[in-house]
Order: sequence, then structure tokens, then C-alpha cells
Amino acid sequence: MSETMTATQTTTAAQGEYLLEVDDLKQHFMVSSGFLKSRPLKAVDGVSFKIRPGETLGLVGESGCGKTTVGRTLMYLYEPTGGTIVFDGEPIKSRKSVKNLRLQAQMVFQDPYSSLNPRMTVGDIIGEPLDVHKLYKNKAERTARIHELMQAVNLSSEHATRYAHEFSGGQRQRIGIARALAVNPKFIVCDEPVSALDVSIQAQVINMFEDLQKELGLTYLFIAHDLSVVKHISTRIAVMYLGKMVELADANTLYNHPIHPYTESLLSAVPIADPRQERQRQRIVLEGDVPSPLNMPSGCAFRTRCKYATEQCAAETPPFTDRGGEHFVACWNK
Ligand SMILES: Nc1ncnc2c1ncn2[C@@H]1O[C@H](COP(=O)(O)OP(=O)(O)OP(=O)(O)O)[C@@H](O)[C@H]1O
Ligand SMILES: [Mg+2]
Repeated sequence: MSETMTATQTTTAAQGEYLLEVDDLKQHFMVSSGFLKSRPLKAVDGVSFKIRPGETLGLVGESGCGKTTVGRTLMYLYEPTGGTIVFDGEPIKSRKSVKNLRLQAQMVFQDPYSSLNPRMTVGDIIGEPLDVHKLYKNKAERTARIHELMQAVNLSSEHATRYAHEFSGGQRQRIGIARALAVNPKFIVCDEPVSALDVSIQAQVINMFEDLQKELGLTYLFIAHDLSVVKHISTRIAVMYLGKMVELADANTLYNHPIHPYTESLLSAVPIADPRQERQRQRIVLEGDVPSPLNMPSGCAFRTRCKYATEQCAAETPPFTDRGGEHFVACWNK
């Protein structure tokens, strides 16, 4: 029996089972479309998912499909156009709930070059959230906490008085992570935290995320372009296409038994370690381009590039249904 993730299920979930429950989240930006005219760009259009404490949900999809907007909207950096966010049992709505969320949830950004203020010392960058939330009694306590955070990310505390521009990309990303950890969060949105780094550094930083997760009991939403980056770190993986989730399953199931045609095509682009299998790997190249989010196809947004598309796909949006064992898929034909 298939069932759709709905608000009712969200509310009937056992209390404490989920750290984050997102239901039908929408983020429509009004963009200019000529003189004094504007229309909505549906960056996120009805996304539902839940994250259990201590797990990592990987979120993948092509550029512009809405991954960062999901992360930023979860952090309430933008107010959602629609839908609900429940964090640790508390609906995020009032000013008080947003303030509480900002103490418990943090974001690490993609670009460690532009996200750190070049005029601040490393110590002040990491100490800023401590200042904002008044998390120390005196200067000595502040300094001790900054040094502790630097050690947690393998940075020498001697570097606290230096400026961010003096560091390499990998080190800057560590500074960004230490800053995110300053408030002792439960949850971190990691928005492509390794994409701007050299390949040789990427694995180190991913390992550090994993170690910190174990030590501190963190829960992650880990955003990436590419399925190969999230494969090892993710408990479950969600795939987005043009503002919607098309598939969500545990990481192994998604890799070994993908259902959605878009997931299949993304997976076919992931290199395989075994050279014999790699030689046999067949890439599924999608035809056409991703449509503009300002001009979405009717029904299923993926249908214009899908070889299984039927009339129903143009007429109705497929619901995101559980095909069994929490394997959610939005497709009429697969
Ligand atoms: N503040 C904004 N105002 C208007 N449109 C926006 C805004 N932020 C994002 N968008 C648009 O929303 C869509 C989703 O953007 P988003 O940055 O969330 O995608 P993404 O999946 O993170 O892409 P990438 O992989 O390139 O980081 C894009 O079409 C983008 O142009
Ligand atoms: Mg992004």
C-alpha cells in the first residue's frame, strides 16, 4: 500500500523520534518580470521530509534545484511561503521559536572564501556567536571556549589572532565549522561544505564532519551536487529536481535500487571503483535542459526529460509516496 507523507502523519509520529519534521515546505521568491511586474519563482515547492537525531540526510540535485533554499529556509533565514517546520518537537513560527532554533541549528556554507569576514581575526569569527548569544561569563572563559573549538577542528589555538585570509581553503572551512559549533548546536545544515576545496582536502574535511558527529551527537542535512560525495556520510539520501523531492531512501537502497528515472541518471554519472564494472557502466544522459523555475512544466516537472513520461505526467503532479520501508518516490510510472 502506498501512502503519502502528510501533515497528519507528521503530527502522529512518536514524540522525540524526529529532530526535524518538514511538511510541504514552499519558498517562492517574487522576481521582477518587466516594468512594475513580478511573478513567483518556485525555488522550493512542497518539500516534505524528516530527520532523526544523530543521522545525516544527504540532499542532492543539479545546480538551481533549490538545495540551498531548503537549507536557508530551514534556518529561517527566509520565512517560508508555505508549509511547516517542527524542530525538536517545537513548531518554528514565533520570534521566540526562531531564536531558539538559531541556538540549536547552524549552517556551514559552501564557499569558505566569501563566508568569513576578512577583517576579523579567527578568534573573533569563532567567538562572534558566543558574543551574540552571550555564552560566557568573562573574557577568559570566552578565550578558553574559542581555543577548545579550534582544537575540535584540528586548528592550532595559536592561530586565533590571525586573519582568515591567511589560511588555505580547507583551514578556512575548519574555521567555519568551529564557528558553527560555538553554540553547541544539535543540528547543522552543511551546504556543499567541500565543493570549493581541492579533491585531496575533501576527504579530510568529510572525515572531520563524521568524527564531530560521533563525538558531539550531531545531526546533519548534508547538501551536495554529486551523489559520490554524500554516499559515505549519509544515513539516508534525498534527491531534488526543480524545487521538489523526487526520491528519498536509505543510502544503500538509493544506490542499489533507485526507482525514480532522475535518480537513475544521477547514479549513472557516479564512477565505480572496480575498473571492470566501471568499463561497463552505462551513462544515462538526459535530453534537453533543466526548465526554468519561472516556467515550470505542468504536472511532473521532470517529464520533459523523462523517457517514461505519459499524458498523466503532464496533467497531474505525482505525489511523494512511500513504496515501502520509507522509500519515498514521486513518479506515476515507476
Ligand atoms: N533570494 C533569491 N531570490 C530570487 N531567486 C532566488 C533566490 N535564491 C535562490 N533563487 C533561485 O531559486 C532557485 C534555487 O536556488 P538554490 O540556490 O536554492 O539552488 P541550489 O540547488 O542550491 O543550486 P547550487 O547547486 O547551484 O548551489 C534558483 O533558480 C535560484 O536562481
Ligand atoms: Mg546551493
